[in-house]
Amino acid sequence: MNNIYMPHLAEIKEIIDESPDTRTFRLKFKDGDTADRFEFKAGQFAEYSAFGDGESTFCIASSPTRKEFIECSFKVFGKVTQALHRLNRGDTIGIRGPYGNWFPLDELKGKNLLFIAGGIGIAPVRCVIDNVLDLRNDFKDLTIISGARSVSDIIYKQEINVWKDRTDIKTIITVDPGGETPSWDGEVGFVPAILEKTAPSPENTAVILCGPPVMIKLTIPILTNLGFKDEEIFTTLENRMKCGLGKCGRCNIGNVYVCKDGPVFTYAQIKRMPQEF
Ligand SMILES: Cc1cc2nc3c(=O)[nH]c(=O)nc-3n(C[C@H](O)[C@H](O)[C@H](O)COP(=O)(O)OP(=O)(O)OC[C@H]3O[C@@H](n4cnc5c(N)ncnc54)[C@H](O)[C@@H]3O)c2cc1C
Ligand code: FES
Repeated sequence: MNNIYMPHLAEIKEIIDESPDTRTFRLKFKDGDTADRFEFKAGQFAEYSAFGDGESTFCIASSPTRKEFIECSFKVFGKVTQALHRLNRGDTIGIRGPYGNWFPLDELKGKNLLFIAGGIGIAPVRCVIDNVLDLRNDFKDLTIISGARSVSDIIYKQEINVWKDRTDIKTIITVDPGGETPSWDGEVGFVPAILEKTAPSPENTAVILCGPPVMIKLTIPILTNLGFKDEEIFTTLENRMKCGLGKCGRCNIGNVYVCKDGPVFTYAQIKRMPQEF
């Protein structure tokens, strides 16, 4: 019988040091069959193991349309992320997944998309952006507002430069007040303030919003004031998880399993949950 907790083995093909505390692993499954069968959608997550130290939950940061590698980006936080951070190119990690639901890109075709990200929340958003760019003609105007604590905390600098160079995306990068350098030419201010200043139109526009709970909490009222509907605001919940597939009950909010029913929810769904942001 198959053990549902058995991870697939993947080799770290490349390590990208995104910022002093955040790394991206570019991963390739060791078994060709797994690589062929590993289908996922933007917004899904996986459990990544550092053998002997445990598992951590990260979104799949690469786009499902770019199949050469699976990528995850993680911020060093506790035991497992420290262990993952000690690994080198050529080392092996475990991956279980893909788990959870996804951003409903099929339903969002024909719309403008507003991406709002803060901190490591840019990881799931980057997956959706790259997915959308590979299906560019299916979507209308694209706007990205992404914030980091300081210039050195900005991750995905390479991708951001690609987005900025494109004339068909409006890309706004901001750092928290005090986090700028003398040569910084982006915005300075917290993400909700920059959103308010930018004042994007809600007309035919869906929002993909990921970041720390405090950012989400302060951003939603601004979106609401601008006229965005609760059903058009999609975000992810990052409750602590263990099994990732609806067995252990670690991630529940009331009768909602964040790992299985989420992690992607509309703000309309989140408002109906016992514990909001
Ligand atoms: C669906 C989902 C997607 C995620 N995607 C990413 C991602 O792409 N990149 C990334 O860096 N992180 C992501 N996270 C958060 C990440 O899972 C945790 O920060 C990470 O597992 C911490 O691992 P650790 O073993 O180093 O810390 P641990 O040693 O396990 O924990 C250290 C401390 O932090 C607490 N803690 C750990 N995780 C959480 C959590 N999720 N919520 C509240 N408290 C927590 C623990 O209880 C403990 O007190 C995601 C989480 C979820 C649920
Ligand atoms: S993480 Fe185990 S039920 Fe959700």
